[in-house]
Amino acid sequence: MARVTIDPLTRIEGHLRIEMETTGNAITKAWSEATQFRGLETIVLGRDPRDVWAFVQRICGVCTTVHAIASITAVENAIGATVPHQALLIRDMIMAAQEIQDHVIHFYHLHALDWVNAASAASADPAKAVAFADAIGSTWKGNNLGRMTAVRDTVKNVVDSGQLSIFTGGYWDHPDYRLPPEANLMAVAHYLDALEFQRSMIRINTVFGGKNPHPNFLVGGMACSIDPSHSETVNQVQTDLIQEWVQEIYDFVRTCYVPDAMAIVGVYKDYFDIGASSPNYLAVGRAGACFAGDPNQAPRYPSPMMDIKPGVILNDDFSKVLDFDASKITESIASSWFKYADGGKSLTPDKGETTVDYTGPSLPYTWLGDSDKYSWCKAPRYDGHPMQVGPLSRVMLAYAQGHPRTKEIVDNALASLQITPKQMNSTAGRTLARAVECLTSAETLWKDTFPTFIAGIKAGDINVFDPARWEPSSWPTSCQGYCIVEVARGNLSHWVGIEKGKISHYQAVVPTTWLAGGRDETGMQGPYEESLAGNGLHPLVDPAQPLEPLRTIHSFDPCMSCSVHVLDPDGDASEVSLS
Ligand code: NI
Ligand code: MG
Repeated sequence: MARVTIDPLTRIEGHLRIEMETTGNAITKAWSEATQFRGLETIVLGRDPRDVWAFVQRICGVCTTVHAIASITAVENAIGATVPHQALLIRDMIMAAQEIQDHVIHFYHLHALDWVNAASAASADPAKAVAFADAIGSTWKGNNLGRMTAVRDTVKNVVDSGQLSIFTGGYWDHPDYRLPPEANLMAVAHYLDALEFQRSMIRINTVFGGKNPHPNFLVGGMACSIDPSHSETVNQVQTDLIQEWVQEIYDFVRTCYVPDAMAIVGVYKDYFDIGASSPNYLAVGRAGACFAGDPNQAPRYPSPMMDIKPGVILNDDFSKVLDFDASKITESIASSWFKYADGGKSLTPDKGETTVDYTGPSLPYTWLGDSDKYSWCKAPRYDGHPMQVGPLSRVMLAYAQGHPRTKEIVDNALASLQITPKQMNSTAGRTLARAVECLTSAETLWKDTFPTFIAGIKAGDINVFDPARWEPSSWPTSCQGYCIVEVARGNLSHWVGIEKGKISHYQAVVPTTWLAGGRDETGMQGPYEESLAGNGLHPLVDPAQPLEPLRTIHSFDPCMSCSVHVLDPDGDASEVSLS
């Protein structure tokens, strides 16, 4: 038995440490360890509920917007605020832009280099790279000889200089990089194109939210105003620009991202049999589905994101979708450095607590996994089950419910890769599902959400704020609310209590918390841990170059800042105090 640690695990947001025990070339035990503590659930206590979105949006600078939307929706649910239809559509467009940007960044800038050997692109023939792009069905406008030659020369200059810049620290000598040089060149070219794309497309959020990251929001609507006859509001000029950007999004995802993702998972097809995680899936709708309170009630407005019903799939049984019940969500602290007032290990989020109880070693430490508690990440469970959340869960839930477009894309992918639905529970499956979802989200934005918004303006509907519940005197003395929303990385819920106009209770149950959380009081592993050590077969050939577990953990798209939601400036967790 050997012990292997990856710390920090890079090309993610935040700080994640993975400890593993191996036998031969396989991982037999794993611990997922969030080594960064944050305390935003505590920071917002006693504050005005109308301000809280601005604090909790800072849970993360990557998943920007989603915590703000979850917060305002939970507060609206608590105080009984209604929101004009156009404001809800604006929120939908902001969320779609963020989700698609996030998926593209993940695939190209965080995950692709697990599969693509950037250094090898220096020796590629640019003409063959163009031919490769053609062969995989990529019709992206950047697939031309001039562009590929320029990128090849850039990579060659970087490699020849001996300073690899953004590609420093890769395991470029690892024998399991399988793509030919021309495929690597094409992928590096698309990596650079995607950098430009993700910067350009997120301007949608600056129009509606004033800035990005961290756009502006408003309880009861949106902070931007629409008026075709005024220059300082959202008018024809901006909507024409947005139309252009939405078209660009659709083109990039369709002609570049999806063919690239299909090609990569096709070359690494054995990864459909590696990295199976907890066989349980939870989602309340397609990406962007957003509910003020119980998702089983009718949504606040007709939306294609909510055209599948909230549901749960257990034990990889895609033939049976179980009803979703929000009261079955709990968070266990069996393996994390928190304590609950009643001395128990598990609480529902409407009663949840964030009280720090660090019992770990002093820095520097060498191994955390020998203790029951080893992480700052709580372990969420649904009816006692660890759940996968995110693109895979949403896509499989939509597939199981017969959502026509998802079914069409997934069935085509399964047929061309010759794999079964069950094999989607894998490292490659999660990566493929993200691309599938990105395509359906881009189509929905292009063909539905944006045109519906424009049709509303044409019909004279320009109201984006309902002031009826703005004044705290209009609120009950005591009220509770919650929001469950499907964001890029998965199922997100914010749970709020308000007493005499101030926040008395706040809990956020975040996608990466669902996935990165550790063992619960029954000893059951969290999804990351299960994906690495579930069957004792996950490969790890060279502990000095742990490329295989990186592929698997990256396939979840970790966002650790979100999962553990003020970092002690000295990095000494034992001295963090919240009281
Ligand atoms: Ni995040
Ligand atoms: Mg939390």
